[in-house]
Parts: sequence; C-alpha cells; structure tokens
Amino acid sequence: MNCSVRKAFTRWLSIVLLFIFLSAGYAPAQTTQAPLAKIPLLPLAWSSWNSFSNTIHSDIAMQQARAMVSTGLQKAGYEYINIDEGWWLGDRDAEGNIVVDPKRWPAIALGDKPGDMANIVRYIHSLGLKAGIYTDAGKDGCSMYPDIGPAYANVGSEGHYEQDFLQFAKWGFDYVKVDWCGGDKENLSADLQYGEIARAIARAEQITGKRLYYSICNWGKQSPWTWGPGVGGSIQDIWRVSDDIVAPVVASGPHNERKVAFDKMMRNFDQGIHPAAQHTGYYNDPDMMVLGMPGMNTEQNRLHMSLWVVSGAPLIIGADLTKLDAETLDTLRNPDAIAIDQDPLGLQCIKVKDLSPGLEIWSKFLSTPGSRAVLLLNRSYFPAPMSVDWTDLGLKGSPANVHDVWANKDAGADKDSLKATVPAQDAILLVVRGSEGGFAHYLPISAASGEAKAITSPQTVFGNVSQVPSPFAQIRIVYANETRSTEVVGLYVNGETGTRVAFPPTKGAASVWIQARLDRQGDMNKLTFDTSSLSGLKIESIDVY
Ligand code: GLA
Repeated sequence: MNCSVRKAFTRWLSIVLLFIFLSAGYAPAQTTQAPLAKIPLLPLAWSSWNSFSNTIHSDIAMQQARAMVSTGLQKAGYEYINIDEGWWLGDRDAEGNIVVDPKRWPAIALGDKPGDMANIVRYIHSLGLKAGIYTDAGKDGCSMYPDIGPAYANVGSEGHYEQDFLQFAKWGFDYVKVDWCGGDKENLSADLQYGEIARAIARAEQITGKRLYYSICNWGKQSPWTWGPGVGGSIQDIWRVSDDIVAPVVASGPHNERKVAFDKMMRNFDQGIHPAAQHTGYYNDPDMMVLGMPGMNTEQNRLHMSLWVVSGAPLIIGADLTKLDAETLDTLRNPDAIAIDQDPLGLQCIKVKDLSPGLEIWSKFLSTPGSRAVLLLNRSYFPAPMSVDWTDLGLKGSPANVHDVWANKDAGADKDSLKATVPAQDAILLVVRGSEGGFAHYLPISAASGEAKAITSPQTVFGNVSQVPSPFAQIRIVYANETRSTEVVGLYVNGETGTRVAFPPTKGAASVWIQARLDRQGDMNKLTFDTSSLSGLKIESIDVY
C-alpha cells in the first residue's frame, strides 16, 4: 500500500469503528484520556480518643507514634497520629491565642519551648508520620462527662476560627477534626459553620503553605451527606454520619458501654451507607474503629475491618497500639483489605442482594475494570449457606480470579457463582476479578430540545439515561475544570433533592466517580448538575455502568 492509500484506509477504518461505537452506545473498556482527579485517598490513622480520652498528653502521643512504626502499621500505610479532645483545657491569652498546659506538652528536643504543640508535631514528623489535632465548631467542646475526666468549658474555636486554624497550621499539623458539641448546644447551622471553618483552613493554607485535611464530626446531624461533600471547596473532607461506637476505655461510669461495642459497630456501618454522597476524594465516616479493643474477639475484629474497607471508610484505629496482639495486627495490616479501602475511585459498597433476612451480598466497585470487593454478610446467629452470582455484580461471564481476603487463597468459585457457608455474625470478604459488563456513554443534552449536543449552561443535563440492573449505577464523570479551585455543584437525580459533587482543578480532562440510584425503568432517568453559576467547569460526558 502506498502512503496516501494507507492514510485513506486508516481514515475509513476509524470512521467505521467510530460508527460502531456510537451506534452500540456501549464502549468495551475504560478510556484513558481522562485520568482520575488527583484527590487524597482515605486517611489511615490512629486516634487518642477511644483509649485515652482527655488523659491524652505528650508521652502517650509519642509512645503511640513509636508503636505505629514498630508494629509495621506505618509500613502497611497508616500515617496519622491524631490527638483528640482533652489536649487543651480552654485557656487563651489576652490576644485570644490558645494556651497549652506545659506539663502535659513539655519540651521534647533541645530548643523546644514547653507548652508548644509544635514539639509533638516535630516528633511525630521525625518518625515519618503525620499529626492530627482536634477542636469544636462551637464555643464549648464535648469535654463535659464527669466520669471520663474533668469538665472544661471554652475548648471550642467559635469566635476564633481564623486564629485557631492558622495556629494549627503554624504548629505544623496535617489534619484537623472539628467536633459539634458546642455547635449542637447553640443550635448552629452545620452547613454554614463547617463551610466557614473550611474557608479559615484555606486561608491558613494561603499564609503558611500548610494544608490541613478536614474531618467533620457532627455525628450525622443535619444530614451531612447532603452538604458534606465539598463543603470545604478545595479543602478535602470526610464527615461523620453517626454517633460514637463506644465511650472511651478510661471511662468508668454510665458512659462506658463497651459491652455493646459489636452491635453498635454494626449499626454504625448501616448508618454510614450513603453511596450517593461518597465519591472520589469525599467520604462518609462511620467513626474510628473499636477493632482490637477490649470486648472484641478475632472474628469480630475481622468483620469490623471488612465492613469498614468495603464501605470505603477512613481506617482510624481507636485501640492502644502498644497492646495489639499478632492476630489483630494481621487484620489491620492485611494488604488486600487496605487496597479495597484505598481504591482510588473512592466509592462505597452497595447492597446488591438480600438472600433472606440477615443474609446480604454487598459489592464495592473497584478501579481495575471488572473488579469488585464482595462481602457475603451473615448477620444471623446461625451459620448459613450463601451464594453470589457473577451477574449480580454486573460482570460479563465468569471471573478470572476470586480471592478470599482473610483466608488469603483462591476462593474456589464455579462458573456462575460462589457458594459458601458463612459463620454466624460473620462475613466472607472476596476480591473478584473479571470482565466489566459494559457501560453506556452519554453526552449532555439541551434540557429544552432533548438533543444530544454539548451545553455549558445554565445546567448540565444528561437525559434518557438507562436504568442498570443493580440498585445503584456507578458513573464516571469526565470534566474539565481549568480554574484554580475545586468547583462544587448540586446533583439532582430524576429531579430529587440531591447531593453535592466536587470537581477539583484539572489540566485538561479528568474524571471523578459517583453512584446514583436510577429508579425509573427503561431510559427515563435524568441527571441534572446545577452548574449554572460556574463558568470554569465543563462536565463533558458520563459513562454509566
Ligand atoms: C465526640 C466525638 C468523638 C470524640 C469526643 C471527644 O463524642 O464524636 O469522636 O472526639 O467527642 O469528646
């Protein structure tokens, strides 16, 4: 073939292929032109609250940091040492600066000033770890339980947002948890208050160059799954969706109900499921874990880990790291489990089937095409035979590989399904690797005409979207945001009040993933992104799986 004939043939072939692609509506594999937006993965951390409450001080924080390294947890990916409530007793100087008890937070290294939180941060950083701190959105904090330590008023940041978050950044902290006891007592609007705090964090970053990861802790009050995603604009966040699993270990009075930790842990998993809110970089937080704490056995610890990783929850260890036994450490360090949690799409599991009451199949969509994390969950008090069909997972044909995470071996599945007996109140966690069932590609339509043509305003609408067999569709959104800030837009599915989706800045096209319930039969579903006020964001297409 001479050169011009070859060129003509190549052009003809690409037109034919494009025609086949468009007329089928389905594309065979994930395209690579729009890489995932660069957003932090879920935090892997330790928090002082569950085991030390407001007895926390410098020696404990140093000891736990050393244990994170010596136990191999750091190597497995855990990186934050988070100092929770109790580190500060509410004193401020004449300028309103936080004053810290120099006895509890003394000098650590030569040249340190007693009572300077930068000391502990430097120590934590010297071990290659990151440091977290805590405050409240209101005037008072939660430190009001007489049985877990003295009550201190004024340990909140209200009235001092700019000053306190700048101080945390100057001390060198990497992460801040903001509680809601004061905010709740004062009846504040969580959406507004947490938004204001995020702006204070962003301003602190402008001044110091130091970014704080933002952990919102208002226990699911005022439905944070509707405003939490991106409430901080460019400040990435996680938001608590339920109250605490347990009162801290050091409690002795009515607040200590650790005997019910297992049931409450299960309840927090259920309350934590808001798949429409969680998306790449923005996560529901069902609370720090009770894994490895007194009252939890090996099987319960594994189940706890399974539930947290499939739900794509932050893995925040609440146990005393110096007291973890070998089995607990194996559970926490399991690389397959951690990889499920840290999957870059950041999606939550969805329940794909109820086999019978208490026997449930959960599936988490993973970034490698055709891969799923699958949980066969037996909530009942008896061992039960359970099975998962590959078609329930939206896969084509039989998977090439089915791995049992806790047994660390091939799960021995057959062509159409996997059958197994699951022990009472336990689960089997699998990673299934197969072929994607396919996806449908949509361009925005003009709401008025219904024609397939790209529009940028006033809203970006995807119409005639087909229902998928599972209750939730996984949706890859390709967009471009060439401004310098994260753009956050409302998403309405079939006209229902929706959630917010955050689109970080990009160079060229990028993608984020969401999940949406498309409950209209056939191709009657409509997704409306409220992009009206945003000139810098262009939502280009969606792929619906
Ligand atoms: C609340 C939070 C906990 C912990 C305590 C501190 O209960 O939910 O995680 O921070 O406050 O008092």
